[in-house]
Amino acid sequence: MCGIVGYIGPRPMGEILLPGLARLEYRGYDSAGLALHQGDKLTVSKRAGRIADLAEQLADLDTGGHLGIGHTRWATHGAPNGTNAHPHTDCTGDVAAVHNGIIENWAELKRELIGRGHEFTSDTDTEVVGHLIEEMADVPLDEAVRRVMQSAQGALALAVIRRSDPEMIVAARRHSPLVVGRGEGEMFVASDIPAFLEHTRNMIVIDDDRVVAITADGATITNLEGEEIPAVERTIEWDLDAAEKGGYESFMLKEIHEQPQAIADTLRGRIDESGRVRLHELELDDRLLRAIDKVFVIACGTSYHAAMMAKYAIERWTRIPVEIDIASEFRYRDPVVDPRTLVIGISQSGETLDTLAAVRYAAAQGATLLGVTNVVDSALARESDAVLYTRAGPEIGVAATKTFTTQLVAMQLLGLYLAQVRASMDPGAIEYHIRQLNELPVAVSQVVGSSDEIKKMTERWADVRDFFFLGRSGDFPVAMEGALKLKEIAYVRAEGFAAGEMKHGPIALIEDGVVVIGVATDTHVKAKTLSNMAEMAARGGEMVILREEGDDGTDFADHVITLPEGPDLICTVTAVVPLQLLAYHVANAKGLDVDKPRNLAKTVTVE
Ligand code: F6R
Repeated sequence: MCGIVGYIGPRPMGEILLPGLARLEYRGYDSAGLALHQGDKLTVSKRAGRIADLAEQLADLDTGGHLGIGHTRWATHGAPNGTNAHPHTDCTGDVAAVHNGIIENWAELKRELIGRGHEFTSDTDTEVVGHLIEEMADVPLDEAVRRVMQSAQGALALAVIRRSDPEMIVAARRHSPLVVGRGEGEMFVASDIPAFLEHTRNMIVIDDDRVVAITADGATITNLEGEEIPAVERTIEWDLDAAEKGGYESFMLKEIHEQPQAIADTLRGRIDESGRVRLHELELDDRLLRAIDKVFVIACGTSYHAAMMAKYAIERWTRIPVEIDIASEFRYRDPVVDPRTLVIGISQSGETLDTLAAVRYAAAQGATLLGVTNVVDSALARESDAVLYTRAGPEIGVAATKTFTTQLVAMQLLGLYLAQVRASMDPGAIEYHIRQLNELPVAVSQVVGSSDEIKKMTERWADVRDFFFLGRSGDFPVAMEGALKLKEIAYVRAEGFAAGEMKHGPIALIEDGVVVIGVATDTHVKAKTLSNMAEMAARGGEMVILREEGDDGTDFADHVITLPEGPDLICTVTAVVPLQLLAYHVANAKGLDVDKPRNLAKTVTVE
């Protein structure tokens, strides 16, 4: 996720583009830059850091001009530094482009361009855009961008300017958001409305595979064949605060709704045409992956729940023994680690001190270290032998939501990849699971759509003091995560248990007024989970069951939440979403600030 903004009109560019970018910082903030069309040249200024740092750098410089584009970055390819900051230019400096998304075939395009003599200066996928357009100097800019869109695969929201076109910005969209704003004799283009809301409320949403040529007087939209598409203009009713949250009441709710997109982004480019997992980015030798005889997965909090799920996935699919550890415990129990051990550290921030200390300890014993993180070039990424990035984009809400579901997806991709490399699973079964992973964005949007139903269910729960979340096997980490979400944002006692464990003691706590939530999706054990739940129902309490479409045996339940059918483990990604919504609605009913729960920090850098 990155933010792009473009402006064409009479006002000083810096005064429009910099505040516009600042409004998009929720989309990324590791580096930023502007490209301005100033008379006979394009001026590019960019640097690592936030928009305020860029503004400081530009304070004494001329930021006027005919038109300009800007970018705030959340790195996906290449470290977050000044060189990789956008805009990116061609060899001549005549073309500048900003991009949000991932160009999947960038390496191939780059190789071809280098073969034709182009020189690259960054490690980004985006730089191919400028060089491709450089080769089309005689082609109108909108047609050149259409051709780029035809040759690039993946997700692209682009804005491009060219020195020989002082009156036009050309933008394009596929799978990444793009909106155009129309003012009086001025036009805007951006990843999101807040970038221009203080200047105009007239907006045009750009659809996938559309190219829009923008002049100061208007916008012409075409499809990739160059046929004109009528623009549908709308008036924005939101105020700025609502617009920054995409119209949602909070960042957390927005981020819950962003999960289908975040999961699609995490899968993008990692499954090839023949239906195999492709994780070239890992750069770990297949021989090494075949030689591993033990895996440790280490993490904290929500990320630890992803580690729990990873244990089920890797053991079930590869038969390699997996141990999981809470990072703050790992070093102090003298774990047995050696060079044939793969240690996987999971941390959305990549900066959690407990996790870093644990993986450093393991690396010192000779283990191979794989980092799974959402932040490019974070400490975990830098210190690992290999990195698998989740691509959830920045998460503003303190409670992890989209970073968790993308961790689950990343770990499942990794499990299937290891199964492929080690030939530990029937190829047909691998293919089936991969197909089902690809269905997840649709399944998750279906579940996100049940928010109102879940809100209704939780209406009378604002005063409930005790919640239990139960599950077995792959459903157990889901239950643990459901309990953590409720604890941290609604401040209620919520316990996650392996469902079969209740009868060994905690069942004594079940009485009227307690809410028990059972997750029953894992084929091997769901009948057992339901019978554990029935035991609970007989002792009072309000029973909620999460089960897949077509399942029955839940007559004793007070509420049933139905999930789309899916294979074991993969289904856990959909199962966790109603529990995020449940926690959200309970906290909201209590009037709590879900984005900033008390006593918590988004990144915990103390032991
Ligand atoms: C809960 C939550 C925390 C984090 C934990 C680890 O919603 O966000 O439990 O999961 O502090 O953080 P990372 O993943 O950044 O290492």
